Formats: sequence, C-alpha cells, structure tokens
Amino acid sequence: MKECVLVTGGAGYIGSHTTVELIAAGYDVVIVDNLSNSEFKAVEGVRTITGVDIPFEQVDCGDKEALGRVFDRYKFNSIIHFAASKAVGESVEKPLLYYRNNLGSLINVLELMRDKGVRNLVFSSSCTVYGQPEVLPVTEQTPRQPATSPYGNTKQISEDIIRDTVAAYPALYGIALRYFNPIGAHPSALIGELPKGVPGNLVPYMTQTAAGLRECLSVFGDDYNTPDGSAIRDYIDITDLARAHVVAVDRMVQGKSKSHYEFFNVGTGRGVSVLELIAAFERATGVKVNHRIVGRRAGDIEKIWADTTFANQELGWKAQRKLEDTLASAWAWEKKLRGIQ
Ligand code: UFG
Repeated sequence: MKECVLVTGGAGYIGSHTTVELIAAGYDVVIVDNLSNSEFKAVEGVRTITGVDIPFEQVDCGDKEALGRVFDRYKFNSIIHFAASKAVGESVEKPLLYYRNNLGSLINVLELMRDKGVRNLVFSSSCTVYGQPEVLPVTEQTPRQPATSPYGNTKQISEDIIRDTVAAYPALYGIALRYFNPIGAHPSALIGELPKGVPGNLVPYMTQTAAGLRECLSVFGDDYNTPDGSAIRDYIDITDLARAHVVAVDRMVQGKSKSHYEFFNVGTGRGVSVLELIAAFERATGVKVNHRIVGRRAGDIEKIWADTTFANQELGWKAQRKLEDTLASAWAWEKKLRGIQ
C-alpha cells in the first residue's frame, strides 16, 4: 500500500510544488489549506500535472476540531506542515496574528500527531533563523541569532517546539528544512507563485515588471559590502526545494533519521546579488527589466548563502536546476498568468 502524506498549506507556492513531487515519488497526498493566502486553482494545477484527483480539505490548521476530523478521515503517517503566515513586514504590524497562526497551528498538528499516532513531521523553516551570520556560508552549526521580526521568531520558536516535543514523545520524529530563497515555477507553467497584491519578494516583482504590470523594479541598496554593492541571497529552485521535502519524508519513512529531531539547510550553496539576478533573468528570457537603485530596505541582511554539504551528504539531495532555467520558468509562469505570448 502507498504511504500517504498530509500536506498542510498544500495550495500554497511551496506546498503545491511539493505535492507534485510527492506524487511523482509514489506517495498519496491529502491537501489541507484554508485558502487564506492561496487559490484553489493551484490544487487544480497539481491535479492536472499529476493526473491524480488529490483529496483537498478546506480547513484552517488553527481549528483543531476540524483538523482532527481530517486525521480521522484519512490514514497517513507523515505530515509536511507548510501552513503559515509568511510576510515579514505584516508580522511586524500584526505580531499576535503571526504568533497565533504559526504557533497555534503547529501545536495543533503536534498534539494531533501525539494523540492519533502520526509519526513524522517535516517543517517549513527558514534561513532567517541565522540572521546576518558572521561567517559565510552558513552551516547547520552556525548559531541562530535573535529574530528580527515576529515572523522570523515564529520560525525559531517552531523549531524549538518541535525539538522539545519529539524529545518528550519518542514515537514522534521531526525534520526542519531551513529554506533559503525559493524562486521559479513548475516546468509545465501550470503552477507557480501567486502573490496577493504588490509582491514583496524580488522575483515576482521582477516578472511583473517584465510583464508591464509594474513600472520599475526598485533595487534596495547598492552600498552593501558585496562585489557589486547589492545584497546577496541563495536562490533555490522551487522544484529542487520540493524534492528536498520528498527525501526528508523518505528518510523518516525508511527509519533513516539519526535522531528524533534534525534540521537541514536547503539552498544551492551559491550566493547571487540582486543585480546579478536581474542580469541572469535578462539573459535567460531576452526581456529587459526596468530597474533603478533606491535605498536599503529596513530589516534586510547584507548577504547569506548556504553550505549545503550536510544536506547533500545526509539527505542525498542536491539542487540541480540552473539559475537561468529557474528564472525562465518564473517568466513562463508570469506570461501564462497574464496571457502574454
Ligand atoms: N529586493 C529588491 N527589490 C524588491 C524586492 C527585493 O531589491 O522589490 C531585494 C531584497 O532587498 C533582498 C533580495 O532582493 O536583498 C531578496 O529579497 P526577497 O524579499 O525576495 O527575500 P528576502 O531574502 O528578503 O526574504 C526571504 C523570504 C522571507 C524569509 C527570508 C529569510 O521572503 O520569508 O528570505 O529566510 F524570512
């Protein structure tokens, strides 16, 4: 019988791509999403790509009773918990919303796992837990730094909640994946990122500018201590990131975890500046991106990229897609959304 995985936030950007890779790897999937920051058409896209009528439950993970009914209705032994609020700026304005949503949902998931005998949890964490590291690239041993936003704090606290819970209930296993900057779309262009309103992240803002929806991309700062002065990130392709979740689930299902709680960096190991990314996009697509330099964005760090040695060795996973191909996929998705030929 196929193993089944519950994917919370499965209609979201990372959740939808991960569901596709789970199905490709032979898992059954049940999607839970409250559609507060996602759209049902992502589920339809995933069903079209996979040819599987994946069950979808419109449930808020903050509603423990409703979530409990999903645990009763389906038989699964692994959960990937994506469902969370994720806008750094919004979290500063609405900290209680972020603490309630992100921590309340996680606690509900863990209590239900404990009470209903579900063993494995993969959690969406973030490289934001490292802050601005003193030494680059960051390994999993790099110390975490105090969070600079309530959003970042929920990621740190969530990691701690999982660590403490699996220590107290040895039937449970957890893996936190610390994502760097996910970008791009599925090669089919049937699913991709669907930001609501004005995009806060670089790549959707860039593709919307290229598509003519935005006049000009603001490059936040060219006076950083980097070769071209713009900030550096580790941009990880969304399908590569999705595959990292599959290998994390495989690891737990196959009993290969080396301890009850593990955490891994999920990046490429390569730092790319904002200006380099714009140039790579223009090379990959032949489309010019109107941009200008403006001041730094409050709260931004200067540079971060991953040391992926541990994830490569332990998970047997490596990012594969070329940056240009990833950027071309982001553009293909944007064009599809806007009906551009
Ligand atoms: N940037 C611009 N112009 C824009 C948008 C972004 O120049 O219009 C720059 C930013 O200043 C930064 C880089 O592009 O240097 C990447 O910015 P993003 O907003 O795309 O991503 P961040 O690195 O700021 O944030 C991401 C996630 C957060 C997460 C953080 C650290 O969006 O959820 O990584 O993990 F917390």
